[in-house]
Amino acid sequence: SLVSMRQLLDHAAENGYGIPAFNVNNLEQVQAIMAAADALDSPVIMQASAGARKYAGEAFLRHLIDAAIEAYPHIPVVMHQDHGQSPAICMAAIRSGFSSVMMDGSLEADGKSVASYEYNVAVSREVVKFSHSIGVTVEAELGVLGSLETMKGDKEDGHGADGTMTREQLLTDVDQAADFVKQTQCDALAIAIGTSHGAYKFTRKPTGDILAIDRIKEIHARIPNTHLVMHGSSSVPQELLAIIREFGGDMKETYGVPVEEIQEGIRHGVRKINIDTDIRLAMTAAIRQFMFQNPSKFDPRDYLKPARLAAEQVVRARFEAFGCAGQA
Ligand code: G3H
Ligand code: 13P
Ligand code: NA
Ligand code: ZN
Repeated sequence: SLVSMRQLLDHAAENGYGIPAFNVNNLEQVQAIMAAADALDSPVIMQASAGARKYAGEAFLRHLIDAAIEAYPHIPVVMHQDHGQSPAICMAAIRSGFSSVMMDGSLEADGKSVASYEYNVAVSREVVKFSHSIGVTVEAELGVLGSLETMKGDKEDGHGADGTMTREQLLTDVDQAADFVKQTQCDALAIAIGTSHGAYKFTRKPTGDILAIDRIKEIHARIPNTHLVMHGSSSVPQELLAIIREFGGDMKETYGVPVEEIQEGIRHGVRKINIDTDIRLAMTAAIRQFMFQNPSKFDPRDYLKPARLAAEQVVRARFEAFGCAGQA
């Protein structure tokens, strides 16, 4: 059934686990997530980005998630809007049936320039006001996602904060986080700790200088009742990169966020972990391999089946690793 995200995150906090939030764009991804959740008895957060709405359309996304709820009535499902760029976008998502929204006021509404703190507080507060009155959960974001190796801000959902940033801009400030939550009353807070969106996060396996898990601990110590959210949390499995390369793909050396680091975050208040890239890599690896090994096949079902199965395996692994299995 469709549930509120607040309810799921509160349960996760009480029981000390984290919930992966998977981005969805099409039928096979929705099916893969639900098959894994059903097999492991896990609650589900599915989220749609602006890019997903552009690709599939609002109605298709909403009905795909509705279909998931109908097919698996015993599994709690959150339909969350990822990286809403304005209160108007959040409002539209709520009107179309989303049970949770992210107001990302860390960037201006153009998605390009870093927003002022005051702007972020104002828009997040506004979204909390109209969402809470109707039982919708709100995730806000403080800090700019980006790389502590290159000191470049992340492109968020495809647009981009330009130029070089300081280390402090790329890490969420502890005092500011406490003030932000007090002023906005957001349910969940996405924080910047050195992760970035996409496959190219780190040029080496990250250590504390470029992935600031310590900052999570400091923020959690200050605002223990706020559910923390990690964006850019794909682990970029080396074995998937190897398959992609073996079967004709061209991907450079790259590293993601190790599952052990996410587990450390979960021990310190992280309750929602955003994952998109790992499902993309899993599906692409499976499709490349299938196409290479079966050059005469042409029915999309033939290659989408292994792609769906590969996505399901990633989802299962994260449910298990984050302690989410058995919690539905
Ligand atoms: O926020 C980033 C997610 O990975 C969504 O990516 O904008 O390409 O759909 P997208
Ligand atoms: P990844 O690109 O690491 O999967 O992050 C996804 C994300 O944060 C969506 O909001
Ligand atoms: Na941001
Ligand atoms: Zn994100």
